[in-house]
Amino acid sequence: MYGLLKPLLFSLNPETAHNLALFAIRNGLVSVSVPDKPVTKFGVKFPNPIGLAAGFDKNGVALEHWHKLGFGFVEIGTVTQHPQPGNAKPRLFRLRRDMALINRMGFNNRGADAIARTLDISDPAIPVGINIGKSKITALRDAHIDYAYSFKLLRQFASYTVVNVSSPNTPGLRSLQSFDMLLVILDTLKSMDSNHPLFVKVSPDLDQAQLEDIVELIVTYDLMGLVANNTTVSRSGLAVDPHIDGGLSGSPLTHRSQQVADTARKLLPDDKFLIATGGVMSANDVKARLDCGADLVQVYTGWVYNGPQFVKDICEAI
Ligand SMILES: Cc1cc2nc3c(=O)[nH]c(=O)nc-3n(C[C@H](O)[C@H](O)[C@H](O)COP(=O)(O)O)c2cc1C
Repeated sequence: MYGLLKPLLFSLNPETAHNLALFAIRNGLVSVSVPDKPVTKFGVKFPNPIGLAAGFDKNGVALEHWHKLGFGFVEIGTVTQHPQPGNAKPRLFRLRRDMALINRMGFNNRGADAIARTLDISDPAIPVGINIGKSKITALRDAHIDYAYSFKLLRQFASYTVVNVSSPNTPGLRSLQSFDMLLVILDTLKSMDSNHPLFVKVSPDLDQAQLEDIVELIVTYDLMGLVANNTTVSRSGLAVDPHIDGGLSGSPLTHRSQQVADTARKLLPDDKFLIATGGVMSANDVKARLDCGADLVQVYTGWVYNGPQFVKDICEAI
């Protein structure tokens, strides 16, 4: 079925295709049966270790349907304190030859209050992670207030919360990965709730010393672990650089994300968890992430290119 629909979807503008796919999913029009591969991580039971990465269901509108696509968990967001429209369109681009996407969505989302109302009336069948970020209008020095606002409202609905400091499309956001700035955010969130499972989502463009700083904070503040990684601003690995601003995802990111996962796993103590994402385009990519010690694996661009059978194919292979 998807084989027939794919040429149609791929002939549409990428954001229109995305909205159409989300419409079909939230109306229960797509379902796939997937074998259970249950895992328990940080006290949470997952039907399988494959999740949908942040950014596809930003507002959590299809929460009750993701398990029908076989996902073992879903991460919604990025959610910001204030509702915001995101960047001007076009802001999502397909690079078909490279099995890649470039996006500069800019955290378009309905804001924490509205999303809390959606979550309040949802009954998801799988664990939900909530990814939070800073609103564009909030000054960088006040970032912790923005994160705290969303965390206060949303954590009650989340199996885990991700502090996203790594999207390239909100000016200055990635500077929040620095030791001093991240410390303020983590200190604020931990003082609000010391038990809730918290993760930090990092960029693949960090060097080892920067990753070491973040792991030090994870240990100091006793967070649950890392989500590695977000999109890249590098254009290496592309057949042709289209000179489009934004974060690159998909196949050109596979090698770098595997390296980041390997390094992160070595740096993280054994009791911390690694959610691996970035360029997971095949079941073999999933196996490689699990083999290096990732606890859970998320897909986005690979799912867009492979279609709704992707999670089934992965779960049959692992
Ligand atoms: C269109 C699009 C929107 C995204 N939005 C977000 C977001 O809001 N927050 C976030 O943390 N990551 C976001 N991401 C990054 C993905 O969650 C993922 O980390 C990244 O795409 C790498 O995985 P992939 O190569 O499998 O796509 C987005 C990615 C894409 C393609």
